[in-house]
Amino acid sequence: MYFDTHAHYYDESFDPDRDETIKDCYAKGISMILNASSNLESAKACVDLADKYPFMYAAVGFHPHDAKEFNEDSPEQLMKLCKNPKVRAIGEIGLDYYYGHSEKDVQKRVFTKQMELARHLNLPVIIHNRDAHFDCMDIVRRFPEVSGEFHCYSGSAEMAKELLDMGWYLGFGGVVTFKNARKVIEVLEMCPTDRILLETDCPYLSPVPNRGKRNDSRNLLYIAEKIAEIKGMDVKELVLTAAENGRSLFGIKG
Ligand code: NI
Repeated sequence: MYFDTHAHYYDESFDPDRDETIKDCYAKGISMILNASSNLESAKACVDLADKYPFMYAAVGFHPHDAKEFNEDSPEQLMKLCKNPKVRAIGEIGLDYYYGHSEKDVQKRVFTKQMELARHLNLPVIIHNRDAHFDCMDIVRRFPEVSGEFHCYSGSAEMAKELLDMGWYLGFGGVVTFKNARKVIEVLEMCPTDRILLETDCPYLSPVPNRGKRNDSRNLLYIAEKIAEIKGMDVKELVLTAAENGRSLFGIKG
């Protein structure tokens, strides 16, 4: 009963074997998958996947890399997609100052606009934050009514504490299995189990022992094993708790 709360199965790297891979993930116990988009085109692709597979859900939004594509029609276009009941979040949205594919001011404006949209639609958000902790927190604090997940959490334990106090969830993926994972392990040690979400971010960020290869939801097992070890928990219990957390945040019943 795994819930992969962050995937990108529309990515072209899955073109040769998408259906086969998704079906095998389900057969191997991945019973829920949420695909997150990066622009309007991938948002539509996420919705199509959610329509095709009963166990798939979608998040729609503009990633900071694609913030420059966001225009005055975008909120309306996203709202239309949100009419589909399988769309459970606005995401992934946020700031990325590491790559800086869009100007900082553009990223901040587009992030803010999408936080407004989430507030208006009463949907959770999925945040991408890379090397932009200060500005990201500044915007998040301005929306006390909006909550959600910091995906692939990379901030400090101190920042995690503030987010947890505000009711946010933290997403953990392949990075926890890497040798240089000291910082994220420190966060996991202090994060209550009822706020942990499991994610692959596939096709990116494959965990050890598959690091460097294309990622998919079947690798969630390695991530769960590592987190269970850190938390001193049974893997099964961790997996069930994390799936329940995801269902609760994204309002998925059954
Ligand atoms: Ni992602």
